[in-house]
Amino acid sequence: MARTRCDRTPAWAQLQTAFAASGKGLDLREAFAQDNKRFERLSQSAPYVFADLSKNRIDAASEALLLDLARQSGVAEHRDAMFAGEKINHTEGREVWHVLLRTPPAATNDGSHRAIELAKVHETLNAMLAYAESVRADAAITDVVNIGIGGSDLGPQMAVLALDAFANSGKRVHFVSNVDGHELAATLKKLKVESTLFLIASKTFTTIETMTNAHSAKAWFAAQGGTDTARHFAALTTNVAAANAFGITTTFGFWDWVGGRYSMWSAIGLPLAIAIGAQGFRDFLAGAHAMDEHFRTAPLEQNLPVRLGLLDLWYRNFHGFTSRSIAPYHSALRRLPAYLQQLEMESNGKRVDGEGATLPFGTSPVLWGESGTNGQHAYFQMLHQGTDVVPLEFVAVKTARHDLGGHHALLLANVLAQAQALMVGKSDIGGHKHFPGNRPSTFLLLDDLTPASLGALIALQEHRVFVSGSLWGINSFDQWGVELGKVLAKDIEARLANGDASGLDGSTAGLLARLRAVPHESFET
Ligand code: F6P
Repeated sequence: MARTRCDRTPAWAQLQTAFAASGKGLDLREAFAQDNKRFERLSQSAPYVFADLSKNRIDAASEALLLDLARQSGVAEHRDAMFAGEKINHTEGREVWHVLLRTPPAATNDGSHRAIELAKVHETLNAMLAYAESVRADAAITDVVNIGIGGSDLGPQMAVLALDAFANSGKRVHFVSNVDGHELAATLKKLKVESTLFLIASKTFTTIETMTNAHSAKAWFAAQGGTDTARHFAALTTNVAAANAFGITTTFGFWDWVGGRYSMWSAIGLPLAIAIGAQGFRDFLAGAHAMDEHFRTAPLEQNLPVRLGLLDLWYRNFHGFTSRSIAPYHSALRRLPAYLQQLEMESNGKRVDGEGATLPFGTSPVLWGESGTNGQHAYFQMLHQGTDVVPLEFVAVKTARHDLGGHHALLLANVLAQAQALMVGKSDIGGHKHFPGNRPSTFLLLDDLTPASLGALIALQEHRVFVSGSLWGINSFDQWGVELGKVLAKDIEARLANGDASGLDGSTAGLLARLRAVPHESFET
């Protein structure tokens, strides 16, 4: 598979020229004035998502060059390699095959590696969904507690909240992720042993936060007189042996080729399946699959993940914008920014290319945001009048699933008004009330927030991250950057107990001494 790092293509140099000539100074208000078809040209439909890209600082020439960049970098070939199950996660020697988790079953099994894995996917999915239905039907279970962190928490948590309107199991679903005991303690206070199901969600079944919380949950269960672990604990993991050794016999597996932050389509999605039911979960997978097919087959110029990934590169490497803000105008999507932070920043927060060479350009932007309209009353001031330009990504949903009069129209009016204000600005000679405008935004519109549309929206985000990572020539599927802190925490945990500060830097040693001096707390084990 031929991949060329973006800065080594002819299109990169042409983009630099085009940026200096017209890209840098592009004014969106003038662009609309000169082209009354700009909205039609720069908006498109993809499965379940309508996207208006017209308020972005691109013109026909830069978009054409960006598409050349995608062609010359080999993005389509790289995408095809991912779908074909090549080991494109080369630093871990793994396939990147989360798309298989939402691929419908094959009519026949031709014995290929793909067919064998797909058959395993459906066997596990069927078992997991049957279990979800049995939990839903079990009136004695009132509370489901997911214990997991990172990809084993953010995806299912975000989706359970997002699809609250479809949650009809009557169960309360809790998420405990932090090793901070306050979180688990606060949750346990609300629970009764006989009515609680713990789901221990961990791809590796070694993550210290999850294992610590799982051990404490197990100890609480035993202390409260619980004995039937098979009924009250289930594990979602690729490491079934470790789950068994922990004492859990009810397990749902997945595979090495599912990255943690891409895993909510696997057994990690069980909390969602319990909340919305087997059919809802299948609809969620089907929506994602529809977006996969769009990404796999649409020509690059009408391929939404490709266009968004190219814009991301344009803003990061040419305009020099260092962050992107996500503004979901739907309160049920309030955990979407947190979910996207892991997806984007753990995937593309890399400073070396596939060969380990230091990159001469920036990669992942800082991703951040809040649901609208709350963000307007917090940080939108900076977006409108601050010194930095932050491209915004609005997500709006046409239909409301409540019947409170007036609210939804007001919400939609606000999202439109914000996108408009950012772009059109407002002149004021006094300065303080001056809005410079020309601030770019993308507008993603769903007809309704359903399992299928959420699946499509998330798959869209996964693929746009793939596209920018592919252009940058990085491996978007490893996460070595989280390892060092884990190792040092183990060392410091021992030092907190024994007070040994030898070899530590002055600041860490000083803080260690101060923490050990806290009179009311002991770290002795
Ligand atoms: O933070 C690193 C990481 O490996 C993430 O990629 C992952 O989602 C998270 O930890 C949790 O890992 P696990 O599911 O193995 O417990």
